[in-house]
Amino acid sequence: MIDEVRIVEVGPRDGLQNISEPISTVQKKIYIDMLSEAGCSEIEVTSFVSPKWVPQLADAKDISASIQRNEHTTYTALVPNKKGLEAAMESGYRSVAIFTAASETFSQKNTNGSIEQNFERFEEMIPILEDNEIRVRAYISACWVCPYEGDICAESVIKVIQDLVDIGVHEISLGDTIGKATPNDVESLLKIILDNWSSQLFALHMHDTYNMATENITIGLGMGIRILDSSAGGVGGCPYAPGASGNISTETVLRVCDEQGFDTGIDVDKLKIAGEYIRSIIQQ
Ligand code: HMG
Ligand code: MG
Repeated sequence: MIDEVRIVEVGPRDGLQNISEPISTVQKKIYIDMLSEAGCSEIEVTSFVSPKWVPQLADAKDISASIQRNEHTTYTALVPNKKGLEAAMESGYRSVAIFTAASETFSQKNTNGSIEQNFERFEEMIPILEDNEIRVRAYISACWVCPYEGDICAESVIKVIQDLVDIGVHEISLGDTIGKATPNDVESLLKIILDNWSSQLFALHMHDTYNMATENITIGLGMGIRILDSSAGGVGGCPYAPGASGNISTETVLRVCDEQGFDTGIDVDKLKIAGEYIRSIIQQ
């Protein structure tokens, strides 16, 4: 068993995309630099999406230029299409995250396109990604429950995973977008997935709306998952997922990993300071 867990810190993107009052680029820089300083191995800095859809992250270019990049940290940007990918590359990203869903309605609401149309957008991105050797992780939202359609069947998730594997993504993050998956739900879907693919391909991306995320990541760790998405301060939520609250906090993930003997390489005290900082800013 691998005794290391890689945490993907999504606070600066997922945490800040849904706040009611935008915060300044300087405040974001302070937060992200604190996360780098805490030793986060991957930070999702921002997204290059339409500023009309997510005005909170309209400063993607500026924040990307202002952060202090640490050579031990992978800095990732979320991109929906070729336009976003090109902008991310101009801002120096060598790692991007693409996103789709296991629910048609969620896909439509979040990206103004069907799951198939999401893949058409990905197809346009593939030659650029390959030619430039850009690392790609992919999110699947609503793997268990959709805010619009309710329960999602495993077959829908399996199909999207297979299609993502076929286009060559390097990592797949399974999203419990509105935090409604129960530990039983997580266990049964993971069992099906891990019968077909290696656990090393997958991350869990659990929102903590109903306080089930801690138990859910514990299930995942027990089944061999070693990549967990979380946000320092537990901030987060998707503007197109009614009811979505924050991601599981990185502080909680660090505690669970510590209790179970997993190393994350993150300085807990420094991470907590980053979490406290962003919470104090958002609450102002
Ligand atoms: P659309 O309106 O269908 O796009 O949006 P379009 O291609 O018709 O273009 C419309 C306008 O958007 C044009 O500008 C484009 O230039 C512009 P105009 O001519 O009207 O001035 N545009 C862009 N601008 C900047 N960057 C771009 C870009 N692309 C087009 N990349 C689109 C389609 C996908 C772009 C839109 O729906 C969008 O941006 N959606 C993003 C929604 C989003 O960011 N959601 C939150 C992130 S996903 C999430 O949180 C879930 C996750 O955390 C996992 C989980 O928890 O489940 C990942
Ligand atoms: Mg999310």
